[in-house]
Amino acid sequence: MLEVKNLVKTFRSGDTTVIAANDISFSVPDGQFASVVGRSGSGKSTLLSLLGALDLPTSGSIVVGDRDITKMRDHELIGYRGRSIGFVFQSYNLVPNLTALENVMLPMEFAKTPKAERIKRGKSLLQEVGLQDDQMGRKPGRLSGGQQQRVAIARALANRPQLILADEPTGNLDATTGKMIFDLLHSLSRKEKTTIIVVTHDLEIAGKTDKTFHLDDGRLVSNNRS
Ligand SMILES: Nc1ncnc2c1ncn2[C@@H]1O[C@H](COP(=O)(O)OP(=O)(O)O)[C@@H](O)[C@H]1O
Ligand SMILES: [Mg+2]
Repeated sequence: MLEVKNLVKTFRSGDTTVIAANDISFSVPDGQFASVVGRSGSGKSTLLSLLGALDLPTSGSIVVGDRDITKMRDHELIGYRGRSIGFVFQSYNLVPNLTALENVMLPMEFAKTPKAERIKRGKSLLQEVGLQDDQMGRKPGRLSGGQQQRVAIARALANRPQLILADEPTGNLDATTGKMIFDLLHSLSRKEKTTIIVVTHDLEIAGKTDKTFHLDDGRLVSNNRS
């Protein structure tokens, strides 16, 4: 279970204070596929950064499993980010000089997984996300956007995280490819029993998730179907 309580994040720029997360509370049961929608600037990326412990909240708590990540020390946070969370970004963020397979193996290397197992799991994950054998040895520059995002999703799953956070994962893809990537995330949340939270502009896509959170000016205005 992911449980967010009274989460507040403010940014100060010059004389003004922006309340990017304004007293947000919600929970997501394990294995659910949830979406976050809202117009640009409504606080979607801020919320995801807080959930992934890439940034600290001003106040409030985020309990993942049985641990409040807002109270973790630095070395615990590094462990949390590396082992419990998988990130998927709009711009894929693959390492350009590593092959697809090496990109997926990288987080397992940080987690000190033995090499033989890294290769085995890397290949099996790439197969699972639909990459062809001959594409696994290619560097990102020789893969299409959709293929790169498949690699990024496989990489996010590498250390069997409890939670996958995806910030507009289909934002750079055409509609058809975007739908395929979304369906892939959906089926993975079921199969790998991973909680997935995905930010999207596409209300049609959001309507297919188990739960939708609507943000408006940093506030959670509803957590019902759109
Ligand atoms: N590092 C930052 N410093 C100052 N303001 C920020 C920062 N990050 C986000 N904001 C502000 O917080 C609000 C929410 O931003 P963001 O979470 O990126 O929205 P979204 O992802 O929904 O477009 C915006 O007003 C944005 O300008
Ligand atoms: Mg954003």
